[in-house]
Amino acid sequence: MNTAAVERHYGSAGIAERVLAAFRAANGPDAPVTPEGLAPFDHFHGRGITATQELAAQLALQPGERVLDIGSGIGGPARWFAAQFEVQVTGVDLTPEFCAAAEVLTAATGLADRVRIIQGSALALPVPDGAFDAAYSQNVIMNIADKRQFYREAFRGLRPGSRLALSNLCAGPAGEPYFPVPWAMTRDTSFLATPEAMRADLLAAGFTIAEFRDITPAMREAQRRTRERIDKGDMPKIAVDIIMGEHAREMQWNSIRTIDDGRGAAIEALARKPL
Ligand SMILES: C[S@@+](CC[C@H](N)C(=O)[O-])C[C@H]1O[C@@H](n2cnc3c(N)ncnc32)[C@H](O)[C@@H]1O
Repeated sequence: MNTAAVERHYGSAGIAERVLAAFRAANGPDAPVTPEGLAPFDHFHGRGITATQELAAQLALQPGERVLDIGSGIGGPARWFAAQFEVQVTGVDLTPEFCAAAEVLTAATGLADRVRIIQGSALALPVPDGAFDAAYSQNVIMNIADKRQFYREAFRGLRPGSRLALSNLCAGPAGEPYFPVPWAMTRDTSFLATPEAMRADLLAAGFTIAEFRDITPAMREAQRRTRERIDKGDMPKIAVDIIMGEHAREMQWNSIRTIDDGRGAAIEALARKPL
């Protein structure tokens, strides 16, 4: 797989500065920088913090647990989990500019003792075997062709008895996405598996599946509201605008059409590594 093309797709200079500028524009120059306040600008996936809260509900984290965020982006979810549940989060992300932005934003929130971001690949996680009590991954695997290796690596990083929460965009029955979408300019870096293939890949890696939900209707509803706001000229800047710049609006439109036309399915799942 061409990971350099994935990095090029996402990376740009000055991301942390743009996020902080958007945060200050929304909250005033002296507002304390908190994971909650940054959330509209640093959770880079459909349905923003609502989707992260749903992953959290599945994971039921306990204070002090060691949590792995696979494809941690600019670190918004990692900071939010660390602050909300008093856990230690390690994020791994491919895109160097995202890791650099995550470091600046983590320092700005005062969470550097609880959040660590490592630049690396989900297909060769730079973490020891069995090091984590829980893991999650939000809207990452659509960039990854070798999904079995992704799940094998997640399985290796978790201790027996632990859990993995996933929020994946899967393939819909009606054909491929309309490009460009937020995760890819073209089909060269977009790899959507069907929900059935996702289940099979998890089982092949050794996981059991505790929950598997198709949340496409909720995604469609959220996107309907976004479309209304875009139409009214009332849609504020969010993470996708800040990170993807000039192509963001077109990507958002295509994402909406992709879900509406049955070309994508949003899946949330909870998997367990057996004892
Ligand atoms: C849509 S963003 C989601 C970021 C983050 N999970 C969030 O929800 O805010 C997709 C992320 O996957 C990362 N990614 C894609 N392929 C990867 C790989 N092979 N290994 C690690 N990260 C990867 C990208 O760098 C990007 O940060």
